[in-house]
Amino acid sequence: MTSPTASLLLTPYTSAALRLRNRVVMAPMTRLRADEDGVPLPIVADYYARRAGAGLIVTEGVWPAFAGQSLWRQPGLVTEAQVAGWRRVTSAVHAAGGVIFAQLMHGGRHSHPLTRIDGGLPLAPSAVPLPGPQHTRAGKRAPAVPRPMTAHDIAETVEDYARAARNAVRAGFDGVELHGANSYLIHQFLADGTNLRTDAYGGDVSGRIRFAREAVEAVAAAVGPHRTAIRLSPGNPQSGMVEADPGPVYRALAAALAPLGLAYVHLSQASDYPALAELRPLLAGTTVIGNVGENRAPTDRAAGEAVLRAGTADLVSYGRAFLANPDLPRRLAADLPLAAPDTAFLYTHGPEGYTAPPGRPAEAEDRAGAPVV
Ligand SMILES: Cc1cc2nc3c(=O)[nH]c(=O)nc-3n(C[C@H](O)[C@H](O)[C@H](O)COP(=O)(O)O)c2cc1C
Repeated sequence: MTSPTASLLLTPYTSAALRLRNRVVMAPMTRLRADEDGVPLPIVADYYARRAGAGLIVTEGVWPAFAGQSLWRQPGLVTEAQVAGWRRVTSAVHAAGGVIFAQLMHGGRHSHPLTRIDGGLPLAPSAVPLPGPQHTRAGKRAPAVPRPMTAHDIAETVEDYARAARNAVRAGFDGVELHGANSYLIHQFLADGTNLRTDAYGGDVSGRIRFAREAVEAVAAAVGPHRTAIRLSPGNPQSGMVEADPGPVYRALAAALAPLGLAYVHLSQASDYPALAELRPLLAGTTVIGNVGENRAPTDRAAGEAVLRAGTADLVSYGRAFLANPDLPRRLAADLPLAAPDTAFLYTHGPEGYTAPPGRPAEAEDRAGAPVV
Protein backbone atom coordinates (compact mmCIF):
# COMPACT_ATOMS: atom_id res chain seq x y z
CA MET A 1 0.00 0.00 0.00
CA THR A 2 1.30 3.44 -0.85
CA SER A 3 1.39 5.80 2.11
CA PRO A 4 1.81 9.58 1.84
CA THR A 5 5.34 9.41 3.28
CA ALA A 6 6.50 7.21 0.38
CA SER A 7 6.37 10.28 -1.83
CA LEU A 8 9.26 11.80 0.10
CA LEU A 9 11.78 9.23 -1.17
CA LEU A 10 10.26 9.35 -4.62
CA THR A 11 10.29 13.14 -4.94
CA PRO A 12 12.51 14.49 -7.74
CA TYR A 13 15.59 16.40 -6.66
CA THR A 14 17.31 19.27 -8.45
CA SER A 15 20.45 21.19 -7.53
CA ALA A 16 22.98 23.16 -9.56
CA ALA A 17 24.79 19.87 -10.23
CA LEU A 18 22.10 17.18 -10.15
CA ARG A 19 18.74 16.51 -11.77
CA LEU A 20 17.46 13.31 -10.22
CA ARG A 21 14.16 11.53 -10.73
CA ASN A 22 13.96 10.55 -7.05
CA ARG A 23 15.94 10.68 -3.81
CA VAL A 24 16.88 7.00 -3.70
CA VAL A 25 20.61 6.61 -4.32
CA MET A 26 22.24 3.26 -5.03
CA ALA A 27 25.17 3.11 -2.57
CA PRO A 28 28.58 1.98 -3.84
CA MET A 29 29.01 -1.79 -3.60
CA THR A 30 32.10 -3.75 -4.57
CA ARG A 31 31.15 -6.87 -6.56
CA LEU A 32 34.46 -7.85 -8.25
CA ARG A 33 33.05 -8.39 -11.76
CA ALA A 34 36.11 -7.15 -13.65
CA ASP A 35 38.54 -9.24 -15.67
CA GLU A 36 42.12 -9.78 -14.52
CA ASP A 37 43.12 -6.47 -16.15
CA GLY A 38 40.57 -4.54 -14.08
CA VAL A 39 38.19 -4.03 -17.03
CA PRO A 40 34.50 -4.31 -16.04
CA LEU A 41 32.93 -7.40 -17.64
CA PRO A 42 30.03 -6.86 -20.11
CA ILE A 43 27.56 -8.05 -17.40
CA VAL A 44 28.40 -4.93 -15.35
CA ALA A 45 26.51 -2.75 -17.86
CA ASP A 46 23.42 -4.93 -17.52
CA TYR A 47 23.69 -4.96 -13.70
CA TYR A 48 23.74 -1.17 -13.40
CA ALA A 49 21.21 -0.53 -16.21
CA ARG A 50 18.69 -2.65 -14.30
CA ARG A 51 19.13 -0.27 -11.36
CA ALA A 52 18.83 2.94 -13.43
CA GLY A 53 15.51 3.71 -11.73
CA ALA A 54 17.57 4.99 -8.80
CA GLY A 55 17.79 8.78 -8.67
CA LEU A 56 21.58 8.31 -8.70
CA ILE A 57 23.83 5.27 -8.95
CA VAL A 58 27.24 5.35 -7.29
CA THR A 59 29.38 2.52 -8.63
CA GLU A 60 31.44 0.10 -6.64
CA GLY A 61 34.87 1.35 -5.55
CA VAL A 62 37.09 1.74 -8.64
CA TRP A 63 40.86 2.13 -8.29
CA PRO A 64 42.39 5.41 -9.52
CA ALA A 65 45.97 4.03 -9.62
CA PHE A 66 47.55 0.58 -9.75
CA ALA A 67 48.77 1.17 -6.18
CA GLY A 68 45.18 1.70 -5.08
CA GLN A 69 43.89 -1.74 -6.08
CA SER A 70 42.51 -3.39 -2.96
CA LEU A 71 41.12 -6.59 -4.39
CA TRP A 72 41.79 -8.93 -7.28
CA ARG A 73 39.14 -8.57 -10.04
CA GLN A 74 38.25 -5.08 -8.79
CA PRO A 75 37.82 -2.64 -11.70
CA GLY A 76 40.02 0.41 -12.33
CA LEU A 77 39.80 3.71 -14.21
CA VAL A 78 43.43 3.90 -15.27
CA THR A 79 43.88 2.12 -18.62
CA GLU A 80 42.17 2.83 -21.95
CA ALA A 81 40.60 -0.65 -21.87
CA GLN A 82 39.07 0.18 -18.49
CA VAL A 83 37.74 3.50 -19.80
CA ALA A 84 36.18 1.65 -22.77
CA GLY A 85 34.68 -0.95 -20.43
CA TRP A 86 33.06 1.73 -18.28
CA ARG A 87 31.77 3.53 -21.38
CA ARG A 88 29.57 0.45 -22.02
CA VAL A 89 28.21 0.82 -18.48
CA THR A 90 27.47 4.56 -18.59
CA SER A 91 25.85 4.22 -22.05
CA ALA A 92 23.54 1.49 -20.78
CA VAL A 93 22.59 3.47 -17.66
CA HIS A 94 22.01 6.69 -19.60
CA ALA A 95 19.93 4.84 -22.20
CA ALA A 96 17.73 3.71 -19.29
CA GLY A 97 17.41 7.31 -18.06
CA GLY A 98 19.78 6.97 -15.10
CA VAL A 99 22.52 9.14 -13.58
CA ILE A 100 25.79 7.50 -12.55
CA PHE A 101 28.89 8.57 -10.60
CA ALA A 102 32.04 6.43 -10.29
CA GLN A 103 33.40 5.89 -6.81
CA LEU A 104 37.19 6.41 -6.85
CA MET A 105 38.60 4.11 -4.19
CA HIS A 106 42.28 4.00 -3.32
CA GLY A 107 42.71 1.18 -0.82
CA GLY A 108 45.84 2.43 0.96
CA ARG A 109 46.76 -0.26 3.49
CA HIS A 110 43.88 -2.38 2.18
CA SER A 111 46.12 -3.92 -0.44
CA HIS A 112 48.71 -6.62 -0.93
CA PRO A 113 51.13 -7.70 -3.66
CA LEU A 114 48.66 -10.54 -4.37
CA THR A 115 45.67 -8.22 -4.87
CA ARG A 116 47.44 -5.92 -7.28
CA ILE A 117 48.06 -6.27 -11.00
CA ASP A 118 51.44 -4.57 -10.50
CA GLY A 119 52.33 -6.73 -7.47
CA GLY A 120 53.44 -3.73 -5.39
CA LEU A 121 53.36 -3.17 -1.64
CA PRO A 122 50.54 -1.10 -0.17
CA LEU A 123 51.03 2.61 0.39
CA ALA A 124 49.48 4.31 3.43
CA PRO A 125 49.94 7.36 5.66
CA SER A 126 51.98 5.28 8.14
CA ALA A 127 53.37 1.75 8.47
CA VAL A 128 50.28 0.45 10.29
CA PRO A 129 49.02 -2.80 8.77
CA LEU A 130 45.46 -4.09 8.79
CA PRO A 131 44.70 -5.85 12.07
CA GLY A 132 43.47 -9.00 10.31
CA PRO A 133 44.14 -11.05 7.19
CA GLN A 134 43.83 -9.63 3.68
CA HIS A 135 41.79 -11.33 0.94
CA THR A 136 44.07 -11.96 -2.02
CA ARG A 137 43.83 -13.91 -5.25
CA ALA A 138 45.56 -16.78 -3.44
CA GLY A 139 43.13 -16.72 -0.50
CA LYS A 140 43.57 -15.08 2.89
CA ARG A 141 47.08 -13.84 3.66
CA ALA A 142 48.73 -12.04 6.57
CA PRO A 143 48.43 -8.30 5.92
CA ALA A 144 51.33 -6.55 4.22
CA VAL A 145 52.94 -3.72 6.18
CA PRO A 146 52.30 -0.60 4.09
CA ARG A 147 55.08 1.73 3.03
CA PRO A 148 54.53 5.21 4.52
CA MET A 149 53.84 7.66 1.71
CA THR A 150 56.48 10.28 0.98
CA ALA A 151 55.51 13.85 0.05
CA HIS A 152 56.17 12.79 -3.56
CA ASP A 153 53.87 9.73 -3.25
CA ILE A 154 51.15 12.01 -1.85
CA ALA A 155 51.44 14.52 -4.69
CA GLU A 156 51.37 11.66 -7.24
CA THR A 157 48.33 10.08 -5.61
CA VAL A 158 46.45 13.39 -5.61
CA GLU A 159 47.22 13.63 -9.34
CA ASP A 160 46.11 9.99 -9.79
CA TYR A 161 42.67 10.91 -8.43
CA ALA A 162 42.48 13.86 -10.85
CA ARG A 163 43.56 11.73 -13.83
CA ALA A 164 41.07 8.99 -12.93
CA ALA A 165 38.34 11.64 -12.66
CA ARG A 166 39.17 12.86 -16.17
CA ASN A 167 39.07 9.24 -17.33
CA ALA A 168 35.67 8.85 -15.66
CA VAL A 169 34.29 11.84 -17.56
CA ARG A 170 35.75 10.44 -20.81
CA ALA A 171 34.01 7.16 -19.97
CA GLY A 172 30.69 9.02 -19.76
CA PHE A 173 30.22 9.24 -15.99
CA ASP A 174 28.18 12.16 -14.68
CA GLY A 175 30.74 12.64 -11.92
CA VAL A 176 32.99 10.95 -9.36
CA GLU A 177 32.72 10.29 -5.64
CA LEU A 178 36.04 10.07 -3.78
CA HIS A 179 35.93 7.22 -1.29
CA GLY A 180 36.86 8.89 1.98
CA ALA A 181 34.93 6.39 4.11
CA ASN A 182 35.02 2.86 5.51
CA SER A 183 38.75 2.54 6.23
CA TYR A 184 40.29 3.19 2.79
CA LEU A 185 43.14 5.61 1.98
CA ILE A 186 41.52 8.99 2.59
CA HIS A 187 39.95 7.69 5.80
CA GLN A 188 43.38 6.38 6.86
CA PHE A 189 44.72 9.95 6.67
CA LEU A 190 41.77 11.28 8.70
CA ALA A 191 41.96 8.69 11.49
CA ASP A 192 44.43 8.91 14.37
CA GLY A 193 44.94 5.10 14.52
CA THR A 194 46.39 4.95 10.99
CA ASN A 195 47.91 8.43 10.61
CA LEU A 196 50.97 8.70 12.88
CA ARG A 197 52.64 11.34 10.71
CA THR A 198 54.29 14.40 12.15
CA ASP A 199 54.58 16.29 8.85
CA ALA A 200 52.02 18.57 7.13
CA TYR A 201 49.71 15.57 6.43
CA GLY A 202 49.39 14.46 10.05
CA GLY A 203 49.43 15.74 13.59
CA ASP A 204 46.68 18.27 14.23
CA VAL A 205 43.26 18.46 12.62
CA SER A 206 44.37 20.66 9.73
CA GLY A 207 47.16 18.20 8.93
CA ARG A 208 44.90 15.16 9.00
CA ILE A 209 42.27 16.67 6.70
CA ARG A 210 44.87 18.00 4.25
CA PHE A 211 45.09 14.91 2.00
CA ALA A 212 41.29 14.72 1.68
CA ARG A 213 41.09 18.43 0.91
CA GLU A 214 43.87 18.33 -1.67
CA ALA A 215 42.41 15.27 -3.40
CA VAL A 216 38.97 16.88 -3.62
CA GLU A 217 40.40 20.19 -4.83
CA ALA A 218 42.50 18.46 -7.50
CA VAL A 219 39.52 16.50 -8.78
CA ALA A 220 37.31 19.59 -8.76
CA ALA A 221 39.96 21.48 -10.73
CA ALA A 222 40.19 18.58 -13.22
CA VAL A 223 36.51 17.92 -13.94
CA GLY A 224 34.62 20.72 -12.22
CA PRO A 225 33.20 20.88 -8.69
CA HIS A 226 29.73 20.00 -10.03
CA ARG A 227 31.14 16.58 -11.00
CA THR A 228 33.04 16.08 -7.74
CA ALA A 229 31.80 14.44 -4.53
CA ILE A 230 33.22 12.67 -1.48
CA ARG A 231 32.00 9.96 0.87
CA LEU A 232 32.87 10.10 4.59
CA SER A 233 32.06 7.79 7.51
CA PRO A 234 33.13 9.58 10.70
CA GLY A 235 34.18 7.20 13.45
CA ASN A 236 33.51 4.01 11.46
CA PRO A 237 35.53 1.35 13.33
CA GLN A 238 35.52 -1.00 10.33
CA SER A 239 38.78 -2.90 9.70
CA GLY A 240 40.37 -1.72 12.93
CA MET A 241 40.01 2.03 12.32
CA VAL A 242 40.44 4.18 15.43
CA GLU A 243 39.12 7.74 15.65
CA ALA A 244 39.19 8.83 19.27
CA ASP A 245 37.31 12.08 18.63
CA PRO A 246 35.83 12.36 15.13
CA GLY A 247 33.97 15.64 15.79
CA PRO A 248 36.77 18.21 15.37
CA VAL A 249 38.27 16.43 12.34
CA TYR A 250 35.03 16.11 10.38
CA ARG A 251 33.74 19.53 11.36
CA ALA A 252 36.96 21.05 10.01
CA LEU A 253 36.70 18.97 6.84
CA ALA A 254 33.04 19.85 6.29
CA ALA A 255 33.88 23.54 6.72
CA ALA A 256 36.67 23.18 4.14
CA LEU A 257 34.41 21.36 1.66
CA ALA A 258 31.36 23.62 2.01
CA PRO A 259 32.60 26.53 -0.14
CA LEU A 260 33.80 24.30 -3.01
CA GLY A 261 30.43 23.90 -4.75
CA LEU A 262 30.66 20.10 -4.83
CA ALA A 263 27.99 17.89 -6.42
CA TYR A 264 27.38 16.32 -3.00
CA VAL A 265 28.85 15.01 0.23
CA HIS A 266 27.86 11.42 1.05
CA LEU A 267 27.77 10.96 4.82
CA SER A 268 27.59 7.55 6.36
CA GLN A 269 26.42 7.50 9.95
CA ALA A 270 28.55 4.52 10.79
CA SER A 271 29.27 4.94 14.49
CA ASP A 272 27.88 6.57 17.61
CA TYR A 273 29.01 9.93 16.25
CA PRO A 274 25.86 11.67 14.90
CA ALA A 275 27.47 12.57 11.58
CA LEU A 276 24.31 13.70 9.79
CA ALA A 277 22.96 15.98 12.50
CA GLU A 278 26.39 17.43 13.30
CA LEU A 279 27.76 18.01 9.81
CA ARG A 280 24.67 18.86 7.79
CA PRO A 281 24.49 22.43 9.17
CA LEU A 282 28.14 22.99 8.18
CA LEU A 283 27.36 21.89 4.63
CA ALA A 284 24.59 24.39 3.98
CA GLY A 285 24.21 24.79 0.22
CA THR A 286 25.81 21.40 -0.51
CA THR A 287 23.66 18.38 -1.35
CA VAL A 288 24.00 15.73 1.36
CA ILE A 289 23.40 12.03 0.80
CA GLY A 290 22.72 10.19 4.05
CA ASN A 291 23.46 6.54 4.73
CA VAL A 292 22.31 4.99 7.98
CA GLY A 293 22.92 1.26 7.41
CA GLU A 294 26.66 0.82 7.90
CA ASN A 295 27.31 -1.68 10.75
CA ARG A 296 23.53 -1.98 11.18
CA ALA A 297 20.56 -3.72 9.58
CA PRO A 298 20.05 -2.96 5.88
CA THR A 299 18.39 0.41 5.35
CA ASP A 300 14.67 0.01 4.71
CA ARG A 301 11.87 2.32 3.68
CA ALA A 302 11.15 3.58 7.21
CA ALA A 303 14.81 4.36 7.91
CA GLY A 304 15.17 6.27 4.64
CA GLU A 305 11.98 8.23 5.24
CA ALA A 306 13.15 9.11 8.77
CA VAL A 307 16.38 10.66 7.42
CA LEU A 308 14.48 12.83 4.94
CA ARG A 309 11.88 13.83 7.52
CA ALA A 310 14.63 14.84 9.98
CA GLY A 311 16.05 17.08 7.26
CA THR A 312 19.62 15.85 7.85
CA ALA A 313 20.08 14.78 4.21
CA ASP A 314 18.57 15.56 0.80
CA LEU A 315 18.98 12.03 -0.58
CA VAL A 316 19.29 8.59 1.02
CA SER A 317 21.60 5.83 -0.17
CA TYR A 318 20.60 2.18 -0.16
CA GLY A 319 23.16 -0.59 -0.48
CA ARG A 320 22.07 -4.12 0.37
CA ALA A 321 18.42 -3.49 -0.54
CA PHE A 322 19.50 -2.84 -4.15
CA LEU A 323 21.24 -6.21 -4.45
CA ALA A 324 18.12 -8.35 -4.74
CA ASN A 325 15.74 -5.51 -5.66
CA PRO A 326 17.01 -3.79 -8.81
CA ASP A 327 13.66 -1.97 -9.02
CA LEU A 328 14.01 -0.69 -5.44
CA PRO A 329 12.46 2.79 -5.99
CA ARG A 330 9.34 1.18 -7.43
CA ARG A 331 9.15 -1.21 -4.49
CA LEU A 332 9.64 1.61 -1.98
CA ALA A 333 6.95 3.68 -3.71
CA ALA A 334 4.44 0.85 -3.51
CA ASP A 335 5.68 -0.36 -0.11
CA LEU A 336 6.26 -3.83 -1.54
CA PRO A 337 8.26 -6.40 0.41
CA LEU A 338 12.00 -6.48 -0.32
CA ALA A 339 13.78 -9.65 -1.43
CA ALA A 340 16.92 -10.75 0.46
CA PRO A 341 20.14 -11.29 -1.54
CA ASP A 342 22.03 -14.56 -1.67
CA THR A 343 25.23 -13.40 0.00
CA ALA A 344 27.22 -16.36 -1.34
CA PHE A 345 27.58 -14.45 -4.63
CA LEU A 346 28.55 -10.99 -3.40
CA TYR A 347 32.19 -11.26 -4.42
CA THR A 348 32.20 -14.04 -6.99
CA HIS A 349 33.22 -13.10 -10.51
CA GLY A 350 30.48 -14.38 -12.81
CA PRO A 351 26.84 -13.64 -13.67
CA GLU A 352 25.42 -15.99 -11.04
CA GLY A 353 23.87 -14.01 -8.19
CA TYR A 354 24.66 -10.84 -10.18
CA THR A 355 22.70 -10.66 -13.42
CA ALA A 356 21.55 -14.29 -13.34
CA PRO A 357 19.69 -15.86 -10.44
CA PRO A 358 21.73 -17.97 -8.03
CA GLY A 359 21.71 -21.62 -9.00
CA ARG A 360 20.73 -21.06 -12.64
CA PRO A 361 23.22 -20.99 -15.50
CA ALA A 362 23.88 -17.68 -17.21
CA GLU A 363 22.01 -18.76 -20.37
CA ALA A 364 18.80 -18.88 -18.33
CA GLU A 365 19.15 -15.22 -17.43
CA ASP A 366 15.91 -13.33 -17.57
CA ARG A 367 16.47 -11.03 -20.54
CA ALA A 368 13.25 -9.16 -19.81
CA GLY A 369 15.06 -7.53 -16.92
CA ALA A 370 12.81 -8.98 -14.23
CA PRO A 371 14.11 -8.35 -10.72
CA VAL A 372 15.86 -11.64 -10.32
CA VAL A 373 18.98 -10.84 -8.31
C1 LIG B 1 28.63 -6.13 -0.95
C2 LIG B 1 28.93 -4.75 -0.44
C3 LIG B 1 29.99 -4.04 -1.00
C4 LIG B 1 30.26 -2.72 -0.57
N1 LIG B 1 31.25 -2.02 -1.19
C5 LIG B 1 31.41 -0.70 -0.91
C6 LIG B 1 32.29 0.10 -1.70
O1 LIG B 1 32.92 -0.34 -2.67
N2 LIG B 1 32.40 1.41 -1.36
C7 LIG B 1 31.70 1.97 -0.30
O2 LIG B 1 31.82 3.17 -0.04
N3 LIG B 1 30.86 1.22 0.44
C8 LIG B 1 30.67 -0.08 0.15
N4 LIG B 1 29.74 -0.81 0.84
C9 LIG B 1 28.89 -0.14 1.89
C10 LIG B 1 27.56 0.32 1.28
O3 LIG B 1 27.77 1.38 0.35
C11 LIG B 1 26.55 0.83 2.35
O4 LIG B 1 27.11 1.94 2.99
C12 LIG B 1 26.22 -0.22 3.38
O5 LIG B 1 25.81 -1.42 2.75
C13 LIG B 1 25.11 0.26 4.34
O6 LIG B 1 23.94 0.63 3.63
P1 LIG B 1 22.66 -0.37 3.53
O7 LIG B 1 22.10 -0.54 4.90
O8 LIG B 1 21.68 0.32 2.65
O9 LIG B 1 23.14 -1.67 2.97
C14 LIG B 1 29.46 -2.13 0.46
C15 LIG B 1 28.43 -2.88 1.03
C16 LIG B 1 28.14 -4.15 0.59
C17 LIG B 1 26.98 -4.90 1.19
